[in-house]
Amino acid sequence: MKTPQPPSTGISLNEHLRAESKAPDDLRHLIIHIATAAKYIQFALRTTEAGLAGTTNQFGEEQVKLDVLSDKIIRQHLTESRLVASLASEEHDEIVELSPSAPYSVVYDPLDGSSLVETNLAIGSIFGIYAGSEILGRKPSQQVAALYVFYGPRTILTYSAGKGVHSFLLNDVGEFILLRGYVGIGDSAKNFSAGNLKAVGENEGYRALVEHWMEHLTMRYSGCMVADVHHIFSKGQGVFANVGGGEYPEGKLRLVFECGPFAYLAEQAGGAASDGTQPLTAKPITSITQRTPILLGSKEEVRRAEEMLG
Ligand code: AHG
Ligand code: MN
Ligand code: MN
Repeated sequence: MKTPQPPSTGISLNEHLRAESKAPDDLRHLIIHIATAAKYIQFALRTTEAGLAGTTNQFGEEQVKLDVLSDKIIRQHLTESRLVASLASEEHDEIVELSPSAPYSVVYDPLDGSSLVETNLAIGSIFGIYAGSEILGRKPSQQVAALYVFYGPRTILTYSAGKGVHSFLLNDVGEFILLRGYVGIGDSAKNFSAGNLKAVGENEGYRALVEHWMEHLTMRYSGCMVADVHHIFSKGQGVFANVGGGEYPEGKLRLVFECGPFAYLAEQAGGAASDGTQPLTAKPITSITQRTPILLGSKEEVRRAEEMLG
């Protein structure tokens, strides 16, 4: 008689955090709580009509926006973990205190690319984890871990806890299973992603840079930072930019929840992330609404961008 087999043979996220990243138990548990929240979010994205173009719900009522719903799901899981002292979410103007003596603080963008929900293009969630209860005054280099969850045709979670960058696929029984043990970014780029492009109207350096890229590289741009940066991680090359000009003198993206976690991940993958003059991981967080220019990806192209932007 055959003995029933376990559903999967891959390495689970929990096992990877323990055996490969050697994450302390509290940090491992916190990341598992975040991964669980992400599974609820991906389920909500798959099953609700909310936000899709041309839909109101069946009762004609106003539906909860998916970024608000995602924020609630994450906040509930962080609260129940009892491991979070403070949190900063893109959906709140202020830092929220949860359990003051808990070991970690979490910064997050619950749904990045939320304006793409109605188009059914890929979107994501971004997280950064700091030890202690302080968020302001910290630098992204002080994160003890960062991760993003990418909701595309497949759901992929990518994390670093300081020992490289690792990717997991959400499988058909709801487990995150190791997809790539080490994600790396090579020094030279073939693809570029240029956001806040209206800035070229007044930013001559950006115009010259984008013209150089148009001649020498191939554009891949979706309008969701998670998807655009995931493209770089999965292809092992590329450059992503969102620089100042026009409506956004400091660029459109926020240091604390968007650029900080991705800067940490990019460096862990062997790439670079700069605000044009300094590594983003060295830039202190002065407020949770702080925006910053960002150049991220293959080192040679980030250097070129720094030079051309002057
Ligand atoms: P959010 O949905 O969290 O507000 O973020 C959207 C962001 C980011 O994902 C993307 O890189 C950027 O907006 C797109 O900017 P452009 O409008 O300049 O393309
Ligand atoms: Mn965002
Ligand atoms: Mn968002």
